[in-house]
Amino acid sequence: MLTKIENLSEYFLSYEKSIANPETFWERIANQFFWRKKWTKVVDFDFSRAHVRWFEGAQLNITENALDRHLYTLGDKPAIIWEPNDPNELGITLTYKQLHEKVCEFANVLINNGIEKGDRVIIYMPMIPEAAIAMLGCARVGAVHSVVFAGFSSSALADRINDCEAKMVLTSDGNFRGAKVIPVKEVVDEALESCKSVDTVLVVERTKTEVIMEKGRDLWWHEEVGKVDFVNKAEVMESEDMLFILYTSGSTGKPKGVVHTTAGYMIYTQYSFQNVFQYNSDDIYWCTADVGWITGHSYIVYGPLLAGATTMMFEGVPTYPHAGRFWEIVDKYQVNQFYTAPTAIRALEAFGQEPIEPYKLDSLKVLGSVGEPINEEAWHWYHTHIGKGKCPIVDTWWQTETGGIMISPLAGLTPTKPAHATLPLPGIRPIIVDGEGNELKGKGVEGNLCINFPWPSMIRTTYGDHDRCINTYFSTYPGMYFTGDGVKRDEDGYYRILGRVDDVINVSGHRMGTAEVENAINEHPKVIESAVVGYPHEIKGQGIYAYVICDMEDRSEANLKKEIVSTVSKIIGPIAKPDKVQIVPGLPKTRSGKIMRRILRKVAEKDTSNLGDTSTLLNPEVVEKIIQGAQ
Ligand code: WTA
Repeated sequence: MLTKIENLSEYFLSYEKSIANPETFWERIANQFFWRKKWTKVVDFDFSRAHVRWFEGAQLNITENALDRHLYTLGDKPAIIWEPNDPNELGITLTYKQLHEKVCEFANVLINNGIEKGDRVIIYMPMIPEAAIAMLGCARVGAVHSVVFAGFSSSALADRINDCEAKMVLTSDGNFRGAKVIPVKEVVDEALESCKSVDTVLVVERTKTEVIMEKGRDLWWHEEVGKVDFVNKAEVMESEDMLFILYTSGSTGKPKGVVHTTAGYMIYTQYSFQNVFQYNSDDIYWCTADVGWITGHSYIVYGPLLAGATTMMFEGVPTYPHAGRFWEIVDKYQVNQFYTAPTAIRALEAFGQEPIEPYKLDSLKVLGSVGEPINEEAWHWYHTHIGKGKCPIVDTWWQTETGGIMISPLAGLTPTKPAHATLPLPGIRPIIVDGEGNELKGKGVEGNLCINFPWPSMIRTTYGDHDRCINTYFSTYPGMYFTGDGVKRDEDGYYRILGRVDDVINVSGHRMGTAEVENAINEHPKVIESAVVGYPHEIKGQGIYAYVICDMEDRSEANLKKEIVSTVSKIIGPIAKPDKVQIVPGLPKTRSGKIMRRILRKVAEKDTSNLGDTSTLLNPEVVEKIIQGAQ
């Protein structure tokens, strides 16, 4: 493939070219796609207005590039291989031809049910092929999909439906997750009690869980598919037409809807996929993420399919029915590229080597890591026991907002270094700044990570609130996109991501705003005030530590803590449950009333020998009490 970098010197050359002349660089890559009409301008941007446009004037449909384009050459090649939760159930393989047919068919179902270009459709589904078909079906008709991770609660789902005023929800009767069956349709029903915009709910039959089908609103997926044929003419989209919205947590307020558009996202996800993973034409690629997160969007569905790859989808969890499940799947399908999160690696490491022993794992060529910093120990374990010392690890740094991988080794080309994301991809210009926004040049520097030139798959806006996009990403350091991450550029010029520098914590690779968890805790009627911080957690990377001031009148402390945890689970979902709750008599505050989180973080980290300057504290006496009661 023309845009596949084959060796390290070619990488450096491409990088140089991409900086010297970004327009020519991206245009050459764009030329390999199928366009209904070519562009008039490659890039137009003004970061002060969060204004970014790529390939303006062009027209296309992303599914014609992910599917139709491959039919002649790759029609019988597996596009998606699906492995169910239960190893005794048969998996499903869809070739490019079959997937194309199913996507066209489903596009017709959407049209039949009144979905038009620009309408928003929520996808709240398990990891089954229909989830990918749903996303692609929306893209085919020009509807904007917004996938909501099916572990979110009904109230979190309702917030997202209402924020984007979705017209339709796609879901299933239930989800298989390990030994559990989760009644997701019920969650949708509850959410819809507070949503006015939804006309239709399409339900995939997966678990045969009994569900209530509301007349005039709820329809069975298979029945609707039975009413249409599989001939569908893709909607012609403009380059900057919205492709999807994905909600993600930030340091303030409710989760925001990150908006990605069509052409730039398409080009960058394919380009980054084939280069980072060094995918070869007969490889089997497996990313273990859920389609509810950006990794599932860019590197299970869009990137691999655009590149004509075989991509696996796994419905289950790493430890069901046993802790060797991942490795069993790798051997069963002879997986070549395996991409997962450090939290999964650490969780599996805790089971020791026994679960790995029955499997050969000799098909593996590349291992990937994403979502949070990978600690050196986990890196070495992954490298030695899974990669058998011969597979390069691509530690890929990126974000929901970046759309694609930004800093990462190219597998087998870039020499790796444990816990280092290494070097930027061509076209990506990282810059390190201090607190005042001064650039820290050279090697051996540490500061805040910004990007100072646009790339095709970057965030375009936050849905319904463009000012929020400007304020969150483009105002801290004018003229640059601010990532919210701290970073070090080491003596080799390699980047090492140090973690968030804002009030976002990263729990098992999931982003969580501390304010969001606090708001959920505060919903409990006995809670007066709360403060949430992250602390180092052996498996999850970071755990959630909540300090809570409560009215204790008629509750025991133990009961109250349990109720607080279940309130968070109900309002956000089980992934946001605090690991530790400490009932405190007060919170350390400055004279201006701001909570001194620095102190709370130190207590949570059990590092109270030096609390730093506490002279501005209004209530220093409370600190001692907090330290005494720490968990
Ligand atoms: C963190 C996930 C260190 C980082 C694709 C970022 C990482 C946030 C890495 C985005 C990595 C992601 N090393 N940290 N390789 N990858 N992060 O939006 O803090 O769910 O800002 O996107 O995860 O999380 P998000």
